Amino acid sequence: MSPWQVSSLQFLASKIGGRRSTRKGRQGRKDCKGRSVSALSSWLVLQAAFALPFALADSAVAGPAAPANLRCEYLTNPLGIDVTQPRFAWVLEHSERGETQSAYQVLVATSAENLSRDQGDAWDSGKVASDDSTQVAYAGKALESGHRYYWKVRTWDKGGAASAYSQPAWFEMGLLSAGDWKGEWIGGANQLRTEFNLAGPVMRARATIAGVGYYELHINGARIGSSVLDPAWTTYEKRVLYATYDVTPYVQSGANAIGVMLGQGWFASRALRFQLDVELADGRHFQVQSNTSWKARNGPVVSDSVYNGEVYDARLEAPGWDRSGFDDTAWGAAASVPGPQGILSAEMMPPIRNVDTLVPLSMKSPKPGVYVYDMGQNMSGWAELRVRGPRGAAVKMRFAELTYDDGSINRDNIRAAKASDTYILRGEGDEVYEPRFTYHGFRYLEVTGYPGTPSLDSIRGRVVHSAVEPVGSFVASKQILNQVQRLIRWSQLTNLFGIPTDCDQRDERQGWMGDAQVTAEEATMNFDMAAFYTNFVRDIRDIQASDGTITDTVPHRYGSRPADPAWGTAFPLICWTMWQQYGDRRILEENYESLKKYVEFLRSRAPDNVLRYSYYGDWVAIEHTPGELVSDAYYYYDVEILRDIAAILGKSADSQAYAQLADQIRTAFNQAFLDSRTGTYANGTQTADALALFLGLVPHDHRGDVAEHLTNDITYGHNTHVTTGFIGVKVLMPVLTEIGRSDLAYELAVQTTYPSWGYMVENGATTLWELWENKRGPSMNSHDHAMFGSVGAWYYNALAGINVGADGAGYRHIRIEPQVVEDLHWVSATVETIRGTVSSSWTRSPGEITLDVAVPVNSDAKVVVPKEDEMTAVTVREGDRVVWENGQFVPGDPGVTGASAAHGNFTFEVGSGHYAFRLTGE
Ligand code: BGC
Repeated sequence: MSPWQVSSLQFLASKIGGRRSTRKGRQGRKDCKGRSVSALSSWLVLQAAFALPFALADSAVAGPAAPANLRCEYLTNPLGIDVTQPRFAWVLEHSERGETQSAYQVLVATSAENLSRDQGDAWDSGKVASDDSTQVAYAGKALESGHRYYWKVRTWDKGGAASAYSQPAWFEMGLLSAGDWKGEWIGGANQLRTEFNLAGPVMRARATIAGVGYYELHINGARIGSSVLDPAWTTYEKRVLYATYDVTPYVQSGANAIGVMLGQGWFASRALRFQLDVELADGRHFQVQSNTSWKARNGPVVSDSVYNGEVYDARLEAPGWDRSGFDDTAWGAAASVPGPQGILSAEMMPPIRNVDTLVPLSMKSPKPGVYVYDMGQNMSGWAELRVRGPRGAAVKMRFAELTYDDGSINRDNIRAAKASDTYILRGEGDEVYEPRFTYHGFRYLEVTGYPGTPSLDSIRGRVVHSAVEPVGSFVASKQILNQVQRLIRWSQLTNLFGIPTDCDQRDERQGWMGDAQVTAEEATMNFDMAAFYTNFVRDIRDIQASDGTITDTVPHRYGSRPADPAWGTAFPLICWTMWQQYGDRRILEENYESLKKYVEFLRSRAPDNVLRYSYYGDWVAIEHTPGELVSDAYYYYDVEILRDIAAILGKSADSQAYAQLADQIRTAFNQAFLDSRTGTYANGTQTADALALFLGLVPHDHRGDVAEHLTNDITYGHNTHVTTGFIGVKVLMPVLTEIGRSDLAYELAVQTTYPSWGYMVENGATTLWELWENKRGPSMNSHDHAMFGSVGAWYYNALAGINVGADGAGYRHIRIEPQVVEDLHWVSATVETIRGTVSSSWTRSPGEITLDVAVPVNSDAKVVVPKEDEMTAVTVREGDRVVWENGQFVPGDPGVTGASAAHGNFTFEVGSGHYAFRLTGE
């Protein structure tokens, strides 16, 4: 074994072991079957390193383990939800392979005591014969505003053995009807306060707050919650998000005070609607509501703007303003303000948070009094400043993605955004400041006006974005892929601010739908996007007009109505992604009529079945593709998705009608754009051919020609480089894999000269650029756009081979089919899916390919073990058993139910469990 193999395998083992060690140890089935790890060959010892954490943690419990990772509406113990039939999900574990759930029982109780006595007084599903372990909808008594419900679940395995009940989980309802809101919209200044008295000890207290643009809530001197830039941006005329906080520990018998700071955010004004519901120990209820009896005064935030930044004058602070007994006689009365018109809706997704803090790499002084910090990473958020100095001194921080050669900051590309925070000192000892109501996209920041000389410790970078959980990991033997993966993750995260944004730095930061649709798959492989996209799809529905049109950006601020068709596709495609990744049938049901309206609008613009209107087409392409081709292809895509959704929902007449429409569009598309002489589409760009191939638009007898034209264009026409924009590149990579040219896709993926992802890495990028070009200057050239990160989905799908299988929505059926290409020696990837861990790790060495996979309980997989072309006399082992020999499947290995050989690969059908395949040959 060569040294790289040992070290990489050890790295893999530690990586995978590290991740998996948090899981239960029931899949160490080598041990369950009584085999001795020590007796295995040295190869198997290394393989066992993958499984070691399971083996070590293996408990004696056989059969189905208690369900774990209980979620409600995709959230863990959510507080303040307003879905009246929330959906439950759990993850199963089992000591045996090939296990499924045959039945479940969910109990929902109104108290923890009832639940512990197994009394589901709100809902007892009874034993339901079903393999659903996600999307199980509550079907009990009507859920009441403000009530907490406790739930647990047990399951039966395929043989009928029952698990223990899960640990209890809970969910708590928010305010379910408009009438539950007693407070009124108030404003008048950016700081509001009130005091109240409680006549006894507190049992329970909930604060419900809608504060737009942004709020910061304080009770009795304490800042409540860890959300920032809350609530998420919505179409305020339609929907305003509110948050619920458990503030029981913060309120007390006797005098109390509430203080709220308001920022303008995207609302561009300030309004607060608030209520506090307190239950005293003696059972009495007490409520505080926002009204004009509150006091108002402008505080230390002198100005705030998302694009421009914040000016904070610490001399205007009023110490104690958020505590009782504060003298507010100089404050005015809060004003009654109109407030946004939208309905109040619970924020049911990960809030925006300060998720990390970066220490600057360096501080340099290009000019006297000017200090430039390098965070070492292009990031979204702001800086925390530490300073000591005279009262009234003003420290200014200006943010930039780039520097000039002399080390000073280069802000040419952020256009009109002033991206600048100013702190005016109160002049008392050490002062620490970070802004509240703005954010910036930056790697560098300039400090001026600092009293004395700042140090590295004067600045910290506060990384801020929607706090979605990472669920995926991808690592490969080719370093450039890992470097690009890092860029993809950073670009994706720094562009999640309640909505998916295009960029985080310039005067834009919009929910551009084209960017959202191309990145959705990548995002769901890397992060838990279920709740985030559930909200975003509602955002899209909120801006739909009665004629079915939607807009380029959501909420709609930039761009047009109707949306460019390749942008509008975000609506059907993100619904479809929710179905594929999470098995979310409800999102299909809820949006079906709206999707239909959207498609019917498109149809109204395509009387001859060719949809021609287009604004952006294959945006930021190197070679231009006619916009009409792009629009028409996406029209077809939308109709196909609608056809499939109709079929899933049992609307067979619709499904047939849209299948027919799709046929008509396909015919018209080929008439309009296919040049059957040259075997290419329109002007023969990579995007034109790739879109047609990807969508199955190419007539059968031309597929070979078009595929050849495409690959020739890449290889000979452009020396193995892409010429697409961000629309084309999303489909180019999977198309190359589909036509059997993963090798070529791989060459593009690891390319390091212009234009390529690697070129960005080679030129020092720490997030993905908006353009393939390494551009600076006052033109459009953001250095943090997520859209080229769409290739991240291909990393998982093709290089690691992790795919949702046919008719396998929500990973019910999985397909593991890694592409073993070129000089790639190993890949290891894991996705924590809605049903549990799916992983695929492969290695190759002369005469041998290994493939380790994990399939969650209640799922199954087709596992394609690849073979090097030249290998003959192939044997496949799984663990220490032979499963394929002499051209035949060898049955008997638990969990492996069948196998077949085709195209030189071996496909094994497996149930749940952890499998270590090893293919050897000559
Ligand atoms: C955005 C893009 C967006 C485009 C629409 C740009 O300004 O940054 O990412 O999709 O406009 O053409």
